[in-house]
Amino acid sequence: MRPMLRLGVNVDHVATIRQARGTDYPDPVMAALEAERAGAAGITAHLREDRRHIQDHDIDRLAAGVTSKLNLEIAATPEMVEIARRVRPADCCLVPERREELTTEGGLSVDGNRERLTDIVAGLRDAGIQVSLFIDPAPREIEAAADVGAPVIELHTGTYADATDDSARAREMQRITEGVLLAEQAGLVVNAGHGLTVGNVGPIAAIPQMVELNIGHSIVARALFLGMHGAVKEMLNACNAAREHLQG
Ligand code: PXP
Repeated sequence: MRPMLRLGVNVDHVATIRQARGTDYPDPVMAALEAERAGAAGITAHLREDRRHIQDHDIDRLAAGVTSKLNLEIAATPEMVEIARRVRPADCCLVPERREELTTEGGLSVDGNRERLTDIVAGLRDAGIQVSLFIDPAPREIEAAADVGAPVIELHTGTYADATDDSARAREMQRITEGVLLAEQAGLVVNAGHGLTVGNVGPIAAIPQMVELNIGHSIVARALFLGMHGAVKEMLNACNAAREHLQG
């Protein structure tokens, strides 16, 4: 039997609301603890170079307070790698980052940065951190991820989530499914995330090899109406329903 799908709850946008007013609330750490009580298997936070939402002190407090596991998302820069090596989260996901973007657009170019990423991945692994690379489901990137020594990839589901018609969504779903098989052959653990909602998570959650989904924006948005606990439960129920056929 495949292990249950793990839900990593991204608390960035709790900090977005706080930073909009420069207050000390709402607290992403409190949100993280509530998400854990509701069944989250991990907490994700992205410390961006421009510190637009999560701040350095949030990462320190999350590292101290999270009892499941902390997944620190960072750009592959010397500053961020140094922070990760100091904080030593359980997991570290390397993502591309451009200052002007609204959110993480597209995956990391692993194939184009093999040498640099090999060193960074080795440095993080030396610190006892499980490294994942956030990539598009492109065969070249998946093969490159294995080559640079990353044990885990997180497939970018943004194109799937943003698809405006059924055929575009089906095409991207096919790419993701093929990418998962290729990753499995390469011995990689496969996670996924970006743009997932209760309405679109089903087909992604139903992929048998999928180990973890990292979901933030839609959960924080639903928490306005259901509370954090209710929003996490709602997402877990949607994931579990999609995997019912895999049980037993
Ligand atoms: N995974 C990664 C690597 C991301 O960069 C993000 C966005 O920060 C997410 C997952 C979560 O995406 P969303 O907020 O759209 O659920």
